[in-house]
Amino acid sequence: MNNKIIIINGPNLNLLGEREQSQYGSTSYNKLKENCSKKAQEIGIDIKFAQSNIEGELVNIIQDSRNKFDGMIINAAAFTHTSIAIRDALDLFKKPIIELHLSNIYKREEFRHKSLISGVVTGGIFGLGAEGYILAIISLQKTLQNENK
Ligand code: DQA
Repeated sequence: MNNKIIIINGPNLNLLGEREQSQYGSTSYNKLKENCSKKAQEIGIDIKFAQSNIEGELVNIIQDSRNKFDGMIINAAAFTHTSIAIRDALDLFKKPIIELHLSNIYKREEFRHKSLISGVVTGGIFGLGAEGYILAIISLQKTLQNENK
C-alpha cells in the first residue's frame, strides 16, 4: 500500500501566483497542487492537500491527520512565526514532518527569522519556491520507505 501524506498550507497561500510574486513566484495554488500530484503519482505516494486561513482550523486538520497519514508537509505561512497552538499540534503528530517555506525567511524581515515550529519537525526546506514542495515529497517518500525497511 502507498504511503499517505498530507500537504498543509496556511493563510494566504490559496492566493499563490497572485500575492507578492517576487517572494512567492508565479505558480498558482491550483498549479502547485497539480505539479505535486503528478510527482506523487510518478513516485507512488498518495497525497492530500489542505489549506486554511484560520489557525484553529489548521490545528484541527493537524490533529485529524494523526491517524490518517504517514507524513506531513506544512507551510504554516505567517502562523509559523506566531502559533504555539500549531507547534503543539505538530508535536502530537509523531511521524515525519517537513516544514516548508517558498521564500528564504532568514533573508527577509526579522520577525520572519523565528519559526516556532522548527523545533518539532523532522526537517525543513526554504527559499526554493514551488519546487520546494516537489523536493519535500521526494524526501518524505524516501524517509518513509527507509522506515519500512
Ligand atoms: C511563507 C513565509 C512566511 O513568513 C509568510 O508569512 C508566508 C509564506 C513562505 O512560504 O515563504 O505567508 O511561509
